[in-house]
Amino acid sequence: MIAQGHDTRATPGTPDCFVVAIDGPAGAGKSTVARRVAVELGFGYVDSGALYRAAALAALQADLDIDDESGIAKRISEARIALSADSRSVRIDDIEVSAAIRTPEVSQAASQVSALPAVRAALIDLQRRAAVAPGIVADGRDIGTVIFPNASLKVFLDADPAERAKRRTDELVGTGKAADLADVRREMDERDSRDRNREVAPLRAADDAIIVDSTAMGIDEVVGLIVNEFRVRIPT
Ligand code: DC
Repeated sequence: MIAQGHDTRATPGTPDCFVVAIDGPAGAGKSTVARRVAVELGFGYVDSGALYRAAALAALQADLDIDDESGIAKRISEARIALSADSRSVRIDDIEVSAAIRTPEVSQAASQVSALPAVRAALIDLQRRAAVAPGIVADGRDIGTVIFPNASLKVFLDADPAERAKRRTDELVGTGKAADLADVRREMDERDSRDRNREVAPLRAADDAIIVDSTAMGIDEVVGLIVNEFRVRIPT
């Protein structure tokens, strides 16, 4: 199955399946929304942030400096980083790390290593290979701009920073972790600023993305909007 109307498979990042790209800053609700959209469309879900988190954890476990670009890229190419089709399981060298990659320390380290060009290059193939029929929903920072520039639908999911910090705090508390709203906001602002201002693949909306400000929207509404946009573009 080819997602585009014309055959552009020679272009890197043009898979033979549908791709819904959802980019945006931390705490905008990307993963919750992307998972739900994937279920509604019968697609897989690719959490690209989990790959950067796994790369950061692999670097921390190997005691590498967080700015050791070639050392971290080498470690990524040796480590077997694997994501299940629904992204619930993340493994490094066959060891389950899906909980270990969710700490605040790994969040910051992921944002730091993701600014290193060799680290980004080392994770490109893994993301593109995850695009399998009938389709995927992938979320991250550069899915619509770099990884899948010919995605069937691109969404930039945003929300007011105060609301994003509140959502992230509620999410952490909901999973039994201690979280302070002011700390979460500070860490989130730091990460967003680094992700937006880095030189390679900075966080930004693709020119052809639809911008969704979810500050005053519920999850069902955002999911419905994206599924509807996809069906309008690709009638089944
Ligand atoms: O989506 P997340 O919060 O799990 O991502 C963790 C970090 O990984 C984020 O701060 C920046 C980086 N990242 C990236 O640079 N590009 C992506 N496509 C996804 C995540």
